[in-house]
Amino acid sequence: MPSQPFTIALSGKGGTGKTTVSSLLVRSFLELGEKPVLAVDADPNANLHEALGVTVGESLGSMREEAFSRQIPPGMNRHDYVRFRFRQSLVEAEGFDLVAMGRPEGSGCYCFANDLLGECMQQLQREYRFVVIDTEAGMEHIARGTIGKPDMLLIVSDPGARGLRTVARIREIATQLGLENEKIFFVVNKYKTGSAPVDIGSEEPIAIIPADDAVENADLAATPVSSIPEASAARMAVLALAEKIRRMAKDRVER
Ligand SMILES: Nc1ncnc2c1ncn2[C@@H]1O[C@H](COP(=O)(O)OP(=O)(O)OP(=O)(O)O)[C@@H](O)[C@H]1O
Ligand SMILES: [Mg+2]
Repeated sequence: MPSQPFTIALSGKGGTGKTTVSSLLVRSFLELGEKPVLAVDADPNANLHEALGVTVGESLGSMREEAFSRQIPPGMNRHDYVRFRFRQSLVEAEGFDLVAMGRPEGSGCYCFANDLLGECMQQLQREYRFVVIDTEAGMEHIARGTIGKPDMLLIVSDPGARGLRTVARIREIATQLGLENEKIFFVVNKYKTGSAPVDIGSEEPIAIIPADDAVENADLAATPVSSIPEASAARMAVLALAEKIRRMAKDRVER
C-alpha cells in the first residue's frame, strides 16, 4: 500500500513569506530526491505558481461551477467527471504538480473545493511524498477548516513582536480546531543577522530564514523565487528545514 503523503500547511500574517518559503520548500524536497511533491495554492490571489515558475490553466474554484452545472459527457457519472476535471486542472511540472484552489464562487465557500481536493487527492494515482499548502494571509483557512488537518502547520512570522503575537493567535485557533500542539511550528523569516535576537518567549523556531537579497532580486526581476542560487542564504536555510521535516516524516512512518 502506498504511504500517505506528509502534508505541510503554511500560515501566517500577510507578507511574512508564506509563498516564498512554500516554493523554496518544494524546491528543497526535489533537491533531496523526495518526489513527487504536490504544491497546493490555497490563496485566492494565487501566486505560488509564479514562485515556482509554472503556469496555471484552471483553478478548482473556476472548475467547480462548470463541473457541477454542465451536461456531463455520456458514460461518465458526475463523480468521474469531477475527478477527470481535477486531473486536468493539475499542473504537471518537473518533480512536482501544482493545483490552485482559486476563488470561492457562487456560495462563497471553500468547503466544496476542499472536500473535492481531499477526495481527489486520495484518488490520485501518483503517490506524493510531500504536499505543501500555501494559504492566504490571516487565519481564514484555519478558522474555516479549509486546509483540513495537516501533518504539520508552519506559521511563518517576521522577527518582530507583532508577528510573534500573531503566531500565538494562530496556534491557539489551530489547537482549538483540534490540531495537536506538537504539529505546530513557527518559522522566523527575513531575519537580519546582527539585529536583536528573536524574542521568542518560550518557543524555539523550527527554522530561522535570513533576509536574503537573492529573494528580493528575484521579486524585482520577476523570476521564480524558487530558482535563486543554491548558495543563497534563504535557500540554504529552507533546505535545512526540509531535511528536518523529512526526518520528522520518517519518524511518523516508523511509529
Ligand atoms: N527571506 C527573505 N528575504 C528577503 N525578502 C523576502 C524573504 N522572504 C520573503 N521576502 C519578500 O517579502 C515579500 C512577501 O513575501 P511572500 O509573498 O512570500 O509573502 P506571503 O506571506 O506569501 O504574502 P501574502 O500574505 O501576500 O500571500 C516579497 O516581496 C518577498 O520577496
Ligand atoms: Mg502568498
